Amino acid sequence: MGKVKRAQELAKAQAEAAERDRAAKAQARPDLRDQRDYPMRLQKFLARAGVASRRGSESLISAGRVEVNGVAVTELGTKVDPLHDEVMVDGRVVEWGSKPVVLALNKPAGIITTMKDYSGRRCVADIMPTDEFPGLFPIGRLDIDTTGLLLFSTDGDLGNHLLHPRHHVTKVYRATVWGDVGEVALSWLADGVLIDDRLTAPAKVKVIKRLEGKTILEIAIHEGRYHQVKRMCEEVGHRVEQLERIAFGPVKLGNLPRGSWRVLEGRELEDLYHAAGLHTPDEAPQAGPGVARANARMREMAGRKPLKEES
Ligand code: URA
Repeated sequence: MGKVKRAQELAKAQAEAAERDRAAKAQARPDLRDQRDYPMRLQKFLARAGVASRRGSESLISAGRVEVNGVAVTELGTKVDPLHDEVMVDGRVVEWGSKPVVLALNKPAGIITTMKDYSGRRCVADIMPTDEFPGLFPIGRLDIDTTGLLLFSTDGDLGNHLLHPRHHVTKVYRATVWGDVGEVALSWLADGVLIDDRLTAPAKVKVIKRLEGKTILEIAIHEGRYHQVKRMCEEVGHRVEQLERIAFGPVKLGNLPRGSWRVLEGRELEDLYHAAGLHTPDEAPQAGPGVARANARMREMAGRKPLKEES
C-alpha cells in the first residue's frame, strides 16, 4: 500500500475512533464543553505537529511548500482538521500526534485525577482531549476537591523529571484555611512541619487575605507528598477549607477558565522542560548556540546550581 493511502486509512480510523470516544464522553458528561480547537489554522497545525515554529510554518505556506489533500495552499487562514485532512510539506506527509505535547487543565472540584475510574466516578479523562492526543497522562495528582492547575503530557520523561524531588520544581497553592493564622504558625509552615515523622522541606508562605474566621495563604512547595498542603496546615492547627493550585514551575494557571485546558507552546513550554532539567524535543542535545542558551536557562531554572550538585 502506498504511503499516502496508508496515511489516509490511518486518518480515517483515527477519525472514527475519535467520533466514538466523543459520543461516549458526551453521553457521560453532557455538561462539559467540547473544547477541541479544530478545524485549526494550517500554521498552528504545522507548529503543533513539530514541523516548524508558527512563523516558520507561515513561511513554508507562503512559499507554496505545503499541500492539503493534494492541493498546494498559500493562504495563511486555511483551516485543516487533523483527523480528516492530509497535509504534506515538500511532498512528505506530516504525521499528526508524533511530537510530545503538554497541556494545562484548570481542574474543577469533584473530579478525580485518573484517566480511568472503574467505579464510574468522574475523572480527568472526561475533560481532556484524549482522542486528539492519545497517551495523555496527568503529571502528578490533585485531590478530588482541589481545583486548579494540573499538567498533562504524552512525554513520560518530562513527567518523571517534573515530579522527581531532585529537580525541586515549585508548586504554588492558594489555601483558604480556617482561623486566623498567626506568625508562629506561618514560620512553622515555612521552616518545616512533621508529616509521617519527616520534616517538610522549607516552603514559602504568605498571607494573601484575612477574612472573618479564615485566612487565605499562598504556599509554595517543591515536594509532592500525599495531601501535603492540607496536612501541613492541619499540623499547625488550621484545617484547609479550599485548595487551588495556581502554578507548577514556570507554568501559571492565569485566567484559564475552570474545566478548560490549553496546549503549552513556545517559551512557556521550553521553560517547563528546562525546569525539569531536560531539553525540549526540538533542541538537539549536541550542538549550536541555541543549545548553549538552553543549557544556561536550564541551570538558571534549576536554582542556579549545576544539576549534578542537586540532591
Ligand atoms: N496538597 C494537598 O493536600 N492536596 C492536593 O491536592 C495538592 C497538594
